[in-house]
Amino acid sequence: MHNGTLWLDQDGNPIQAHGGMIAKFKDRYYWYGEHKGADNCPHQTRVDVIGIACYSSTDLHTWKYEGLALSADEQADNYLHPSCVCERPKVIYNELNDEYLLWFHADDAQYYYAGVGVARSKHPQGPFHDVRFMQPNRLDSRDMTLFKDQNGKAVLIHSSNYNKTMVLAELNDAYDDVTGFYTSALIDQEREAPILFKKADTYYMITSGCTGWHPNAALYAKSNHLYSGWKLIDNPCSGKNYRKTFNAQASYVFESDGQYILMLDHWQPDDLQHSGYSFLPITFTEDGIEVIWQDQF
Ligand code: GLA
Repeated sequence: MHNGTLWLDQDGNPIQAHGGMIAKFKDRYYWYGEHKGADNCPHQTRVDVIGIACYSSTDLHTWKYEGLALSADEQADNYLHPSCVCERPKVIYNELNDEYLLWFHADDAQYYYAGVGVARSKHPQGPFHDVRFMQPNRLDSRDMTLFKDQNGKAVLIHSSNYNKTMVLAELNDAYDDVTGFYTSALIDQEREAPILFKKADTYYMITSGCTGWHPNAALYAKSNHLYSGWKLIDNPCSGKNYRKTFNAQASYVFESDGQYILMLDHWQPDDLQHSGYSFLPITFTEDGIEVIWQDQF
């Protein structure tokens, strides 16, 4: 797959899974993302919500479209209405209830509401149902991600306080709500698009700056503890356009055969449905991480 371009599924259709994530459930990889397969709203850098698409694969190269895991709803008087915002979906499996939980950034078109949506399904590809909207811990929440630790505890990481500060909010055992315990990290650093992953005993957080669809420099932070001790380290990118995250914005890190892969979106603000993708391996150095541009995945 040629990095920086819009990839095709096994039927030859463009993969519509922007701002996405990949999770492995049983023997398959599932790619969830924003379906943006429509023209931009006239003179706007948005497309109406279509839903959250799901694709599956066994080799990360051939992708089968599984349909919409969650669909927009013309009748809805909530944030699933096409006129709203449904971004950066994340799915985790809950052993306790044997179900999949889908969390996403739910908002109105002006990004004033700043909340999350949570839905459940017995199947990884959905359909997800019982959608609930909330502002976690009564805090504003825009770009977000989920992280599940080795001990089975999960956390919601979201940009808060008008995108000034990152919040780490503990999830309950069912992964369908926050517990009320949360801490702040990267205070007043104005970061968004959070990604959290762990290697050995070290937690890493990659974020972007807050310039909307326009690329900026990524930064990573490191800590030995999930809820405290976060320290900004550096821009992990290296190679052409490294100061603009290779003209992209990172969305997630997934693991495959011991490799950590960074997923990125090459947003085209005026034609969002044609925004391309890149997958780049993460290199662990003596004291940090590095992401080197490669033309191919
Ligand atoms: C940033 C966010 C995206 C989206 C756009 C909208 O790029 O990371 O998820 O909200 O802004 O401008």
